Amino acid sequence: MLIVAGNNSEQLCRRIAEGTGSQIGEVEKRRFPDGELYIRVKTPLEKEDVAIVSDTRSDGGIIHTMLLVDAASGMKPRRLTLIIPYFSYGRQHMRYKPGEPISSKVLVTLFSNYVDRMATIEIHDEETIGFSKIPFSNLKVDHSVAEYYRNRKLDMVVSPDDGGYNRARSIADLLGIEATYFNKIRTDPKNVTMEPPSDINFNGKRVLIFDDIISTGGTIMKSIELLRSLGASYIAVGAVHGLFANNGHERIASLADELSVTNTVAGAYSKIDVSQEIIKYLKGENGGK
Ligand code: R5P
Repeated sequence: MLIVAGNNSEQLCRRIAEGTGSQIGEVEKRRFPDGELYIRVKTPLEKEDVAIVSDTRSDGGIIHTMLLVDAASGMKPRRLTLIIPYFSYGRQHMRYKPGEPISSKVLVTLFSNYVDRMATIEIHDEETIGFSKIPFSNLKVDHSVAEYYRNRKLDMVVSPDDGGYNRARSIADLLGIEATYFNKIRTDPKNVTMEPPSDINFNGKRVLIFDDIISTGGTIMKSIELLRSLGASYIAVGAVHGLFANNGHERIASLADELSVTNTVAGAYSKIDVSQEIIKYLKGENGGK
């Protein structure tokens, strides 16, 4: 197998290449004088089993990924797989108001024209998976997350909303501890209100609050505030995808006892390695087709 690094994914690619015993393909990248991106895959891909790993976090990352899948598919690989560790625009998976696009469907449609199969990690809503006409796997990272927190002596895992409860439950089960969720109501894109469950005592507890995405950090900061007011003694904050819009990570890190996200998006707090889940998929060990 040949692994090709797309946008902002070199470190993850190196780990995947090591874990699958693969070579990393060489790609030339530069900018035209007007800022447009030029790429050229230099390693021959004909008849190879090729996996591209590319971050679509930024709009520039989407263009980069599109150019790369077109370049690679034009080189006639035997099979072309696209791994998108963080699938951006996943939260607009439906038309909430007339006149809006189904953004996640646009991305799925574009990418699936070029590759044989795709995988992502913990997409915001499974509905996006259903838009694909090619095999599209949504990989879970509960095992990697639970292993990361195994020695923290945590008492419970809290999801900031009911939508994330199954993830919190699964991580808690692997750690043999309790799980619960807050009742979150979003009042506008930047603000939320939150209520704790009335039957759970947080006083003196060591708590992991875990979400799928930290974007502005509003949800997580409100959760930290609530847990502090309820007497939690240790608050570890975690998420699958740390986007940290407006560089909110330093503020969150100063409020929590610990901040760690996975390396689906590379960053200073991307401490939980999920490359094993991607390696298992590429080896066909966790439902990868
Ligand atoms: C919402 O449904 C998601 O699970 C996250 O809670 C949300 O995207 C976090 O956004 P923010 O960090 O902007 O509050």
